[in-house]
Amino acid sequence: MIAIYPGSFDPVTLGHLDIIQRGAKLFEQVIVAVLRNPNKTPLFTVQERIEQIRKSTKHLPNVEADSFDGLTVNYAQMRRAGVLLRGLRAISDFEVELQMAHTNKTLSTQIETVFLATSNEYSFLSSSVVKEIAKFGGSINHLVPPHVALDIYQCYAHKYQSNQSITENIPSLTNPPMDTLLEIHNQTEMDV
Ligand code: PNS
Repeated sequence: MIAIYPGSFDPVTLGHLDIIQRGAKLFEQVIVAVLRNPNKTPLFTVQERIEQIRKSTKHLPNVEADSFDGLTVNYAQMRRAGVLLRGLRAISDFEVELQMAHTNKTLSTQIETVFLATSNEYSFLSSSVVKEIAKFGGSINHLVPPHVALDIYQCYAHKYQSNQSITENIPSLTNPPMDTLLEIHNQTEMDV
């Protein structure tokens, strides 16, 4: 059975990777599908997000990263998938996820939504939390793979530089943790 793991993944986190890794043990193939959503202004382009996912899952032969637009069930049908895989972190997720699963069921009775409970250590984790911490100069090494952490710090450093002439008072961004950056950089160099 093929499973689609749809989402924004802006960026992929260790919480997502926990679901992907466990999903890869349960299903023949897991397709991590990045939604091309024109209504959102993401930090990373769809292509960058796909690359981040590919790099993070290169050790999993039955995992593929792709993008889609429109309805998830249409994409799932096109890829001959029988399952939509989603992670559940807390009760707050449940309401939204259940509504989404019910909606998808009305659109295609052939496709089942399967939920995996997120591992305890990632129950608080989201892409937004990661971006918030990085934006204010905090360490995100324990939340995302090293190459993604590097991408995020570089992105915010760049954003800060281009905004410097407009505002002078974002103190934490003047100081992305340089020792952390170096450490991540060295680690990423070793990984590739
Ligand atoms: O990572 P996210 O933002 O929680 O993912 C949400 C996603 C992409 C799974 C959801 O928004 C989605 O499936 N969008 C595609 C449009 C669709 O199929 N809508 C009907 C189900 S509500």
